[in-house]
Amino acid sequence: MLKLEQLEKTYRTGDKALTGIDLTVPDGQVLALIGPSGAGKSTLIRCINRLVEPTAGRVWLDDLELTRLSATGLRNARRQMGMIFQEYALVERLTVMENVLSGRLGYVGFWRSYLRRYPQADVDEAFRLLDRVGLLAMADKRADELSGGQRQRVGICRALIQNPKLLLVDEPTASLDPKTSRQIMRLICELCAERGLAAIINIHDVALAQRFVQRVVGLRAGSIAFDGAPDRLSPEVLTSIYGEEDWEATSQQAEDESEGAE
Ligand SMILES: Nc1ncnc2c1ncn2[C@@H]1O[C@H](COP(=O)(O)OP(=O)(O)OP(=O)(O)O)[C@@H](O)[C@H]1O
Ligand SMILES: [Mg+2]
Repeated sequence: MLKLEQLEKTYRTGDKALTGIDLTVPDGQVLALIGPSGAGKSTLIRCINRLVEPTAGRVWLDDLELTRLSATGLRNARRQMGMIFQEYALVERLTVMENVLSGRLGYVGFWRSYLRRYPQADVDEAFRLLDRVGLLAMADKRADELSGGQRQRVGICRALIQNPKLLLVDEPTASLDPKTSRQIMRLICELCAERGLAAIINIHDVALAQRFVQRVVGLRAGSIAFDGAPDRLSPEVLTSIYGEEDWEATSQQAEDESEGAE
């Protein structure tokens, strides 16, 4: 279980990005974090694994208080949190397989990985994951030869090979076309279900979030403006998160999409 208690972040510039967030995510729950640009979604995700240092408050992963850990403790704890980014963050000149294996960096140590001596069990697991996401045939391709959707699948494998308890996902589909976006969201949610993994997924596309997750949290100006089931995202609620806009079209789109099979 992940637990945030009164989490605050004020950047050095004075920007108050999070103003006291309380949030509990049970094991296995996939949660979408929505909200307008600048609401604090990326900050929240990054405060959990302390890529951004919180100003105040606490973060717990099970009985481990992440906000109290020293550098070494944090390095170990980060193995339990897989990250998936919008921009994939792959090493372009390395192969798909090498990029996936780089997810084991936290375990095998720098020199061993630098010398590309990963244990056979890791290589086997990488093949299994690539097979699961439909990229087995691409294992030897260089990352810079892949499409956006393929890159994100590699990013997913790299996060999962860490064998994390929690996935932190920052706009996984923002660079992808609508159909690929749906495939990637479906894949992430299926993999979480298969592995009993919890996830926080920052996402701009409300209809996509509604279609795939069990719970939606809406951030507005660093505070939680909504927390509930996706079907409770009425136009009024969306207005309370995003401000005035015509939400009928978005809600309708979500309904249409959940009916149509692919
Ligand atoms: N490194 C930084 N230094 C100073 N201010 C920052 C920094 N990163 C973010 N902020 C500010 O913190 C607030 C929240 O930003 P954040 O990136 O978390 O929002 P977001 O919800 O992820 O937005 P988007 O949807 O555009 O990605 C914004 O006001 C932003 O300008
Ligand atoms: Mg962001």
